[in-house]
Amino acid sequence: MTTEKNQACDLVIFGAKGDLTKRKLLPALYKLEKLRKLHKSTRIIATGRANWNTEDYIKIIKKSIKTFLKEDIQDHIWTQFSSRIFFHNINVYEMLHFEKLKKILVKQNNIIIYYCATPPETLNAIFLGLGNTHLNFPSSRIILEKPLGVSLKTSQIINNQISKYFSEKQIFRIDHYLGKESILNLFSLRFANSLLFHTWNNTIIDHIQITVSEEVGIEDRWNYFDKIGQTRDMVQNHLLQLLTIITMDQPKNIQSENIRNEKVKILRSLNPINLDNINQFTVRGQYSSGVIREKKVPSYLKENGANKYSQTETFVAMQINLNHEKWLGVPFYLRTGKRLAHKYSEIVIVFKKNPINLFIDSNIELLSNKLIIRLEPNANIQYDILNKTPSLQNKYKLEILTLKSNNINQENSKNLIDAYERLLLESMRGIQALFVSRDEVEESWKWIDSILDGWKNIKNDNLQLYKAGSWGPKNANILLSYNNHTWHKFQ
Ligand code: BG6
Repeated sequence: MTTEKNQACDLVIFGAKGDLTKRKLLPALYKLEKLRKLHKSTRIIATGRANWNTEDYIKIIKKSIKTFLKEDIQDHIWTQFSSRIFFHNINVYEMLHFEKLKKILVKQNNIIIYYCATPPETLNAIFLGLGNTHLNFPSSRIILEKPLGVSLKTSQIINNQISKYFSEKQIFRIDHYLGKESILNLFSLRFANSLLFHTWNNTIIDHIQITVSEEVGIEDRWNYFDKIGQTRDMVQNHLLQLLTIITMDQPKNIQSENIRNEKVKILRSLNPINLDNINQFTVRGQYSSGVIREKKVPSYLKENGANKYSQTETFVAMQINLNHEKWLGVPFYLRTGKRLAHKYSEIVIVFKKNPINLFIDSNIELLSNKLIIRLEPNANIQYDILNKTPSLQNKYKLEILTLKSNNINQENSKNLIDAYERLLLESMRGIQALFVSRDEVEESWKWIDSILDGWKNIKNDNLQLYKAGSWGPKNANILLSYNNHTWHKFQ
């Protein structure tokens, strides 16, 4: 059952001691308490391997919530919030521990939501434990974090394992980008504005650029990141989600299934990138040492725990073409990397030049209009139009006039909704629209696998070094120059 109303839930977190729980989940839950979005009977059952009792756990997390929320905890909110928290010592390989968990859960008739905030290796043990002890009640839900596998095959294994115990309607796969306000706003921009709705296709649009640039390095996650690389870490999920939201057809309505089905159609329409065209359509890079915000940072190969021969990419740029009638002939350029000059995410829609030039006698070349959608930081929308430069000359002179909105999602306001707040709340409401379906995950892995295979089998490895604090390897510019395009400069 799905509802807009907040339901009484038992949120069982596997991985209560982990980084994700401390950094994201508990601060988000505290914020939901503050916003009075949690049902009065909702409980948070944090589970992990530790001989702590609830009192110990609450003391520990109070400190970390304060650190990650960056605000003082209010006593009256804390009293209410902490009264919902219970710590349960669980070894996911021990059935007896699940039996004990069951005793806690059946005490109340709440909707049960399991949140797997654990490393992927333990997922199957959790599914088995829940299934074998019949904790997979039909009304229960289960939330999975990325990475969901490292390839189509491994993601299918996880999906097959979980589907033995939970139906697709019960599974909520997180991509935190889908919880971001500025990304949700893309739906309203595209589908609520007739000006954009009617021009959103290959008759008017020349090409589209998507940039997700990060300043951070791998943040002491060598063991995770080096096996994964930027393509699996960012493109398979976040960037492909952005691409699908930007290109999908208008769904029949905003119901989960219709939105997700439209996104899958786009993923199926991506032209494959493989050994034959990998050099033409992709660029990979790895950061060398450099300076970011006036601070020296080491090269990727000197990060903690590094293997100095690693060929893992920390930057990737690609050109994608869609086999979709609306998008034939429109290149989509994606780029994302760690240790780049600035952290920002942006979508740039470059419109075709006006084919008829009324101002040719004035030696004017008509430039493209651009719609620049800044997602982060300070989300805003900018529209570049050509405008007459005031003068008494009889010849025209045109200049670009930039129309820019203010911050569109009040990012600096104290009430900014964090992606995890929204996603936790949506899971409590039982609404799946902002979660990724099995088909989406598997289609995107299928497409990514072919790129990864291409890189693996190519004769001359195309990994290029780039300086930390730069905009990535030179070849990322060359990639666009084949079509006479250039990356929109960060402003
Ligand atoms: C995570 C990746 O999914 O997204 C990280 O694992 C990355 O490597 C992060 O830094 C970026 O998220 P955001 O919200 O800061 O853009």
